Amino acid sequence: MKPPEMGLPPSTAGARFPATRMRRTRQSPWIRGLVREHQLHPSDLVLPLFVIEGTNKREAIDSLPDVSRLSIDLLVETAQQAAKLGIPAVALFPAVDPKLKTPDGREAWNPESLVCRAVQALKTEVPGIGVICDVALDPYTDHGHDGLVQDGQVVNDETVAVLVRQALTLAAAGCDVVAPSDMMDGRIGAIRSALEKDGFANTMILSYAAKYASTFYGPFRDAVSSASALGTADKATYQMDPANGAEAVREVLLDVEEGADMVMIKPGMPYLDIIRDIAQATSVPVFAYQVSGEYAMLANGAAQGLFDRKKAFHESLMAFKRAGARGVLTYAALEIASDLTGAT
Ligand code: PBG
Repeated sequence: MKPPEMGLPPSTAGARFPATRMRRTRQSPWIRGLVREHQLHPSDLVLPLFVIEGTNKREAIDSLPDVSRLSIDLLVETAQQAAKLGIPAVALFPAVDPKLKTPDGREAWNPESLVCRAVQALKTEVPGIGVICDVALDPYTDHGHDGLVQDGQVVNDETVAVLVRQALTLAAAGCDVVAPSDMMDGRIGAIRSALEKDGFANTMILSYAAKYASTFYGPFRDAVSSASALGTADKATYQMDPANGAEAVREVLLDVEEGADMVMIKPGMPYLDIIRDIAQATSVPVFAYQVSGEYAMLANGAAQGLFDRKKAFHESLMAFKRAGARGVLTYAALEIASDLTGAT
């Protein structure tokens, strides 16, 4: 093979037009399929689910078209469907009764909590599917913050201590993966050593390692009703500044050193550069979260006839894989998986 010409980066090596015609390998579906660099598969998708008390209850979420809060029995049915479609895991988010919300979020380490009962039901009824649970206090605090508040500040080390309790409680309920989404410093190491010490050596940690203080979480906060609790406050003292990229790599490397088995970047689409940087900086599996605001934008755009819904989701999810994500959390997981498997 001819060495690349001087001045051209090696990746452009190749003959010039007309010897090279890029359109040759685009001329029909079979050759496009053969040269395709990335594939989207149901096994790349994680389905986030909102859980509520009750039986046979399905509550629409105004800000998230086609996504509902489900009681545990319907959650189990949905997880069964997901498993059948080849979706490897679900991520659970409880919509907690406001009466249970306290300043210290103590419901977070109640072994009989809604989310613990949901985990137990899933592990019994749908043993094949992985269960991922968020570790953070926001569904449980009356102020809507992910951590404990003292003198108007979200305090780090005191919060880490209770996040450890929350993680142990979730592990004891049978959760496979704990996913700290709180962005406190040092929590991965603290959770890892507590899990090891208490006999949960196999419980995995998926760290929301680079989580930005994003406005795209709006519909989610509506879904778990932490928006009303949070009011006009923001999470900028613990979630990352959207202006920073190098800092995300540093965050991730610290979490990996502390024992994270997998890391997540969140939100997804506005942060594809971060996914790429992190996928190149570490060999730990990288996940992206196509968050509620991203989902809502695509769903609403499609509903207005601006573009095709399925194509928009496929294209956006493929972009995550191209950027270097091993998998994606998306509210569209069921419909995309059924599309990919040819099910209707
Ligand atoms: C809570 C948490 C949030 C999301 C996942 N876990 C919201 C937040 O940090 O305020 C957002 C997910 C989404 O928007 O889909 N710690």
